[in-house]
Amino acid sequence: MNLVLVECKKEYWEFVRLLRTNSQIQEGFFSFAEITKEQQEIFMSKNHHRYKICLLENNPVGYVGIINEQEITYCVHSDFSNQGIGTYMVREFTKDSKNFIAIVKQENIGSQRVFEKLGWQKHIYFVKKMNFNETCNYYNTDKGDKHPYGNGYASFYDPVFSEMRSKHITLCEIGVEQGNSLKTYYDYFPNAKIYGLDIADKKVFENDRITTRILDQSKEKDLDEFLNFCDSCNLQFDFILDDGSHDVEHQQLTFGKLFRLIKPGGFYIIEDLGSSHFVLGVELYGNVQTQRKINNNTIKFLSQRPFDSFWISKENLSYINDCVASITIFDTCNKYLPYSKEYECENGYPLRSITSIIKKKG
Ligand SMILES: C[S@@+](CC[C@H](N)C(=O)[O-])C[C@H]1O[C@@H](n2cnc3c(N)ncnc32)[C@H](O)[C@@H]1O
Repeated sequence: MNLVLVECKKEYWEFVRLLRTNSQIQEGFFSFAEITKEQQEIFMSKNHHRYKICLLENNPVGYVGIINEQEITYCVHSDFSNQGIGTYMVREFTKDSKNFIAIVKQENIGSQRVFEKLGWQKHIYFVKKMNFNETCNYYNTDKGDKHPYGNGYASFYDPVFSEMRSKHITLCEIGVEQGNSLKTYYDYFPNAKIYGLDIADKKVFENDRITTRILDQSKEKDLDEFLNFCDSCNLQFDFILDDGSHDVEHQQLTFGKLFRLIKPGGFYIIEDLGSSHFVLGVELYGNVQTQRKINNNTIKFLSQRPFDSFWISKENLSYINDCVASITIFDTCNKYLPYSKEYECENGYPLRSITSIIKKKG
């Protein structure tokens, strides 16, 4: 490949601006850059000597430069990525000096490889306190907004969770799957004791602060056993989050039984209320939507007062009616989920990401 680095003359300033503001390329950078032509003119007239342009057969394909005195920055046009152009630019640009540094995003593996290939070593870990949504995205749980089927719930939880972030809380999640949300809690809540309940054995995710338990939330017996276990060790939770079967019957059965385990002022979260809109026959985790579930769905249950449910005992209903302080339902209006015929919803609507935060009286 016939590559050459040339001065960043005025004719290339617009190329640099378009590259830096390109949406495909933004992800690799720490900050989103909104640069106008005028701003670029002003910036480049002062700083063009810090940049070089990489030409391939006389056409610009990337730039490399210095920011903040010694930090190297580079960018390759997306049509020419993975062809060694980044490596070429960094090698040529830095060959006469040893005093450069580069700050590379943890997820930007391509750039890390470029520097490592040239003998650069990881020297500093850039530590950033991530919010709950960012932590979810880091561990690839679908509560975040970056997962391919992300529900985007995490930003609704952020204000609530950030209040208890550093406290010695106890939390419980129903539905463990690959352990992504347990890892998220472990990282985000450094002092939390975490319980993960699942129909399947998830012991593999246990550690010093994570405990798991097999529990089928469709079975009264399992829920009662868990209540007895909690009573026997005086276990109460700052929050319980139901991300298990998503079946409306199980959601209400579980809430009816476990709400009394929430500490005063704590929270009970029921995720994926989109299942309340499933049409007859839709199946999830082997549970089929029935007419009774449609008529008594969880969104209806949470919306009516006094609380009444086909699947909750009179005694538990009375407790819930006395102890619920507020309920907030968050509906992403299908911002995140792709349309899927598999989970067909009433009125021909696509499946929506809906979650709820139920606050207990203090
Ligand atoms: C959506 S995944 C949980 C994802 C996880 N919370 C996360 O954010 O990474 C649902 C989990 O619920 C479990 N599950 C399904 N039916 C269940 C039931 N009846 N009782 C308990 N867990 C159930 C499944 O085994 C699966 O691991």
